[in-house]
Amino acid sequence: MSEPIALARFAGKTALVTGGASGLGLASARRLLREGARVALADINAHALRNVVKELAQPPGHVSQHMLDVTDAAQVEAVVQEAWQTHGAIDVLVNSAGISYQGSVLDTPIEAWRRVLDINLSGSYLCTQAVARRMVQRRQGRIVMIASISGQQVWSGRAAYCASKGGVLALAKSCAIDLAPFGITVNSVSPGPIETAQTAALHGPVIRQAIVHATPMARYGQADEVADAIAFLASDDARFVNGHDLVVDGGLTSAAILYDLKQNPQA
Ligand SMILES: NC(=O)c1ccc[n+]([C@@H]2O[C@H](COP(=O)([O-])OP(=O)(O)OC[C@H]3O[C@@H](n4cnc5c(N)ncnc54)[C@H](O)[C@@H]3O)[C@@H](O)[C@H]2O)c1
Repeated sequence: MSEPIALARFAGKTALVTGGASGLGLASARRLLREGARVALADINAHALRNVVKELAQPPGHVSQHMLDVTDAAQVEAVVQEAWQTHGAIDVLVNSAGISYQGSVLDTPIEAWRRVLDINLSGSYLCTQAVARRMVQRRQGRIVMIASISGQQVWSGRAAYCASKGGVLALAKSCAIDLAPFGITVNSVSPGPIETAQTAALHGPVIRQAIVHATPMARYGQADEVADAIAFLASDDARFVNGHDLVVDGGLTSAAILYDLKQNPQA
């Protein structure tokens, strides 16, 4: 077995990660830091943000923290400006701020619908716009949106979430086309179920069992497995990949019917 290659694809680069205080955002921040990036972590949860910055224990100047509600255009503009000034530029944007919501279309209140769309879709739009307006001047940049397999194959009782993620997929492709002439690529990652605070809060035993049963790899993914995919799309290894959605789901969306032929030879 050959030794793993120590990559340093982000040396001298800065990434702004929204939703960076938890889950997939935090895992991406860790991954990018490991490869030499400086990271601006932005999140609405100030307490969690403070704790993770302490925990990351990076040399001074490597990590900055920014309180941000991605639904507030003025805050987005101020934070992007602040992060740009602190680090000198933003080379990579990871849009990971997001929430989930469980409820049938029959009883999802309009306020919940609006909140999910506002954070997951409009938040990604606002952050992308604010960062891209500055990236175009340097004619370079990488933007990665976190969509979901739920944007393409919907789940029971998730109308608002699925609609928001379908929107994120279309937004990523639209941004890819609009920003390509400026040397900026925009791609999305569509994770399947991953062990994070979001799934811990929402997935009870029935959902968990259904998911593991339907997944060829028979497990949930780990946050670092999604972070690896994000790092690829954010790196120059993906310089000609644009408008692509990278599914990270252990085969879940490829499988229609699953059974074990070894255990059931007559199946
Ligand atoms: N965990 C999964 O299985 C999974 C699967 C597919 C897609 N996703 C998507 O990945 C993204 C990250 O999810 P996660 O699982 O890491 O969840 P998480 O709850 O662990 O992290 C989400 C982060 O977003 C922050 N946030 C929420 N609202 C915000 C706002 N208005 N402004 C700024 N920050 C805000 C939260 O404080 C939190 O730190 C979400 O968009 C989610 O929909 C997750």
